[in-house]
Amino acid sequence: EVAERVESLLAKMTIVEKAGQLTQFFYFNLPPSEEIEDRLNTDFSRQPAMVEAALSEGKAGALLFVTDPAEVNRLQRLAVDGNRHGIPALFGFDVIHGLRTILPVPIAMAASWDPAVIEQGQAVAAREARAVGIHWTFAPMADIARDPRWGRIIEGAGEDPYLGAAVAAAQVRGFQGADFGAPDRIIAGPKHFAGYGAALGGRDYDEVNLSDAELWNVYLPPFKAAVDAGAGNIMTAYMPLNGIPATGNEWLFRDVLRGQWGFDGFVVSDAQAVHNLKTHGFAENLTDAGVRAVTTGIDLEMAIGDPAYAHLPEAVDAGLVDEAALDACVRRILATKIRLGLLDQPYVDEDHARAVLADPAHRAVARTAAQRAAVLLRNEGDLLPLTGQGSIAVIGPLADSRRDTIGPWVFDYDSAETVTVLQGIRDRAGTDVQVSYAAGIRSAQRTFASMFDMWGDNTPADAGDFDDTAELDRAVAAARNADVAVVVLGEWQNMIGEAASRSSLELPGDQLALLQAVAATGTPVVLLVMNGRPLDLRWAAENIPAILDIWYPGTQGGTAVADLLFGDVSPGGKLPFTWPRTVGQLPMIYSHTTSHEPDNQGKRYWDEQSTPLFPFGHGLSYGRFDYSEPTLDRDSITAGETVTVSVTVTNTGTREADEVAQLYIRQRYGTAARPIRELKGFQRITLAPGASQTLTFPLGPDELRYWNAAAKDWVIDSTSIDVFVGGDCTATQNVSFTITG
Ligand code: IFM
Repeated sequence: EVAERVESLLAKMTIVEKAGQLTQFFYFNLPPSEEIEDRLNTDFSRQPAMVEAALSEGKAGALLFVTDPAEVNRLQRLAVDGNRHGIPALFGFDVIHGLRTILPVPIAMAASWDPAVIEQGQAVAAREARAVGIHWTFAPMADIARDPRWGRIIEGAGEDPYLGAAVAAAQVRGFQGADFGAPDRIIAGPKHFAGYGAALGGRDYDEVNLSDAELWNVYLPPFKAAVDAGAGNIMTAYMPLNGIPATGNEWLFRDVLRGQWGFDGFVVSDAQAVHNLKTHGFAENLTDAGVRAVTTGIDLEMAIGDPAYAHLPEAVDAGLVDEAALDACVRRILATKIRLGLLDQPYVDEDHARAVLADPAHRAVARTAAQRAAVLLRNEGDLLPLTGQGSIAVIGPLADSRRDTIGPWVFDYDSAETVTVLQGIRDRAGTDVQVSYAAGIRSAQRTFASMFDMWGDNTPADAGDFDDTAELDRAVAAARNADVAVVVLGEWQNMIGEAASRSSLELPGDQLALLQAVAATGTPVVLLVMNGRPLDLRWAAENIPAILDIWYPGTQGGTAVADLLFGDVSPGGKLPFTWPRTVGQLPMIYSHTTSHEPDNQGKRYWDEQSTPLFPFGHGLSYGRFDYSEPTLDRDSITAGETVTVSVTVTNTGTREADEVAQLYIRQRYGTAARPIRELKGFQRITLAPGASQTLTFPLGPDELRYWNAAAKDWVIDSTSIDVFVGGDCTATQNVSFTITG
């Protein structure tokens, strides 16, 4: 039925109408700053009139960045009335970690190692988005990130393809459910296909050069998982992959995505990325850019203005591209709109939208997610959870910043309902515990103006005349007079994200000096870190007894952090990346291959250790977990068969807590050198004190095969495999089996 409706519409469409369906425009309801206009070389004051004219003339098939349901309806009316066929527009948006209810940032959700909570979180985001009229999100970001200088590490699941695949698939299920046409679901758009996270030097948008083996074994698996989970859309990447711009890369889109993986959804360019084919020195002019992108199978061009696809009609006339190439793209756009139910009901109910956005159940999901995302990096002497302290000094420029609590990539949040760490501690402490507060240093020490500072209240003003010395003294005095100091430090949220790479991982401004001054009082210190990338915590890891990574925890962040600090729940998250000591070690991954002098691995730099500060998968809890020796159901298999690993985990501590049991393999020999460890299974479990649980992990063809550069294909070697099970990538409990034939 979908195909019939598509064909009957397509048969009636002119070439100009077809090009219109393939064009998506930004529509800003908030005017960006002059600085951004200069940077993007666009006069945004003309944008609304230009886009409305395009809609009214049938020259726009999709919009992005509209979040107000009344605006959606108004613009949709222009679209429906603006083309002879009454085809509604698709509304897309960056619903990255929530729309109104803000969840922890994506890297934090990945740190939960909990696909169920990730799925639940994105289901809430989908419900809110669909209610206001958004049909499709530009998420999940499925890019593997192995260099934390790259700011977009915050939007993904970190360094590992196995974890990345599980997280990407969970997000797709959360957004789309079983059917993205359902009234509370939206289309997921995994991005940025492919390799974007491997930008040279961690500099956003810089070129990417990856071997086929790295692509297949590391960078493509999360996308494959997202496609297998049914994602309805894929977004291109900005940069050239091995010299060919991704947006014009036929190998990526025709051979891999559609050919090998059978993807039948639609592909969108990243914003201005078709235009950029010219900037790259790839396309000769805008017409050529449009021709190349459409030939690559990029169905929709995301444009700020001056779309290349507006030149497609003249390109068809000039014989530069067949109309059939456009038809293939139009079919996929129309089929998507029909599957969404848009042709039957293009408008939204504004009262329903208001009710959905106010649903308290959504805040409960955000609170659970923030609890489960936190990673306890260190807890010397069991300083946490806090018990019996009569007074707490809350210190730090991020402790009471609502904007920083919710993190980057949010535009439609309600600042008033955001619970900061200070607020969360005050609410939870009640009247029994005295809570004092000092920022310690000024918020204006944020060192960077991100392109996203164009929206909203991103730069909090410090109250009145800020006296630096007096404020530092206040913080030190507060710490001295308290039983415990909770210091909240990290990056201001606009220091990370798109176009926010850093050449240093140090705590910004005078934060380290503040931490050292507070610690010098002798009052025990709990450090809470707000971040989306690892930071240089070498001093803290030696001198501060308790360090809890709370990421940017979202709308309910402060409440969740208080739940964790006071032991109402135990932290149980684990690091989704290797935490280096210093920026000079980058890039650094746990799954490296061994080579010359492996025993000397830790001594490769003369001026710094070669080991990380915290290993991949690391995270403590308020419990203590013991692992049995793993066992196997058999000790030899032939290629294609599955072996099952069993291990018993016991909580030998005194509190109920979560553990993420992780399984790693190492191939001893074969037809290629393989990583020293590779994650191939994980399960997050909750155990009461003294309780045990036996877990099983299958290791079959999906886990044991890898893409081999010599064979230029997937292989399973005849070999011996060591299996390690434990609480992080340094797990020692092991067993081995052989693969024959
Ligand atoms: O979705 C984003 C993408 O990740 C980067 N460029 C802009 C797009 C739309 O906002």
